[in-house]
Amino acid sequence: MSVLVTGGAGYIGSHVVRLLTERGDRVVVADDLSNGRVARVGDAPVVQVDLATDGARDALRAAFAEHDVDAVVHFAARKQVGESVQQPARYWSQNVGGTANLLQAMEDAGVGRLVFSSSAATYGAPDTPVVREDGPCEPINPYGQTKLVGEWMTRAAGVAWGLRAANLRYFNVAGAGWPDLGDTAVLNLVPIVFRALDEGRRPVVFGGDYPTPDGSAVRDYVHVADLASAHLAALDGLDADERAHDVFNVGTGTGSSVLQVLDAVREVTGLPVDPDVRERRAGDPPSLVADVSRIREDLGWTASRGLADIVSSAWEAWQVGRAR
Ligand code: WQD
Repeated sequence: MSVLVTGGAGYIGSHVVRLLTERGDRVVVADDLSNGRVARVGDAPVVQVDLATDGARDALRAAFAEHDVDAVVHFAARKQVGESVQQPARYWSQNVGGTANLLQAMEDAGVGRLVFSSSAATYGAPDTPVVREDGPCEPINPYGQTKLVGEWMTRAAGVAWGLRAANLRYFNVAGAGWPDLGDTAVLNLVPIVFRALDEGRRPVVFGGDYPTPDGSAVRDYVHVADLASAHLAALDGLDADERAHDVFNVGTGTGSSVLQVLDAVREVTGLPVDPDVRERRAGDPPSLVADVSRIREDLGWTASRGLADIVSSAWEAWQVGRAR
């Protein structure tokens, strides 16, 4: 198979590029390199393009033709919740506009298969212990809104011209499948804690009074290598004759609290980790955990790595990143 991966030079995208390459697929990356790094993609050719710009459709059509592309995995997007609240227009323009250009180019070129990076942020702040794909989606920030709209766009393209798409709703992604592919942005809990330790600060815990077993917020942490393998399962499942679903949660089905993550960090690093429990962070749901039965039943995929693997692989990659 020949696969074009948008955002393939980024943290999650580069894991998928490597897995595809390892199994013998041909890969071409389309990335604006705003966060991505060419060093992450090995020998895969890179087309430098911002999908939201006018020239993007031409650049994509040329790449589809040159590389005889059969399918697309679409990661390229802005992904910071807080930034999306501050700059909503930018999120609509980049995430929705970029996806619109991509879908138009795919239609023009007859590339009919897509795996789209959606997010658990589409659920908003649910009041159920686990969330199912057929439950309500009420995103509470522009980031989550643009991801939900992206799902609608892929579905509309299915109706209009027969696109076969899988929308993957990621939960809290962390860890590293290879030490050189760690998350270099310090935006999520695990890297934020590592940086605090590096700088001799106590890690901050946002909220100790949630209605959870230890009072800190609960999330479903999924290893990036497991998440990457879910993309291959989704890609391979696109051709199934009678697909019942086009949206899948990608998590483990198990929640971990912030304090449990800090325990895992203490265990892995051997460093003293002294939580500094503060006020809740605005907009945080108390608990967000995936129901993973659909992806298991439809695609035969389950996560195989737990919190200890996530934290230890992230820590190993953090050392590599620090040495650079
Ligand atoms: C995890 C938990 C924090 C920092 C976001 C997006 C989601 C997905 C993943 C992309 C929360 C707590 C954090 C700190 C803390 N992104 N925390 N101290 O907010 O669950 O999810 O990223 O698709 O869509 O919404 O992730 O890593 O920011 O936080 O206590 O210094 O850790 O309050 O409970 P979040 P996160």
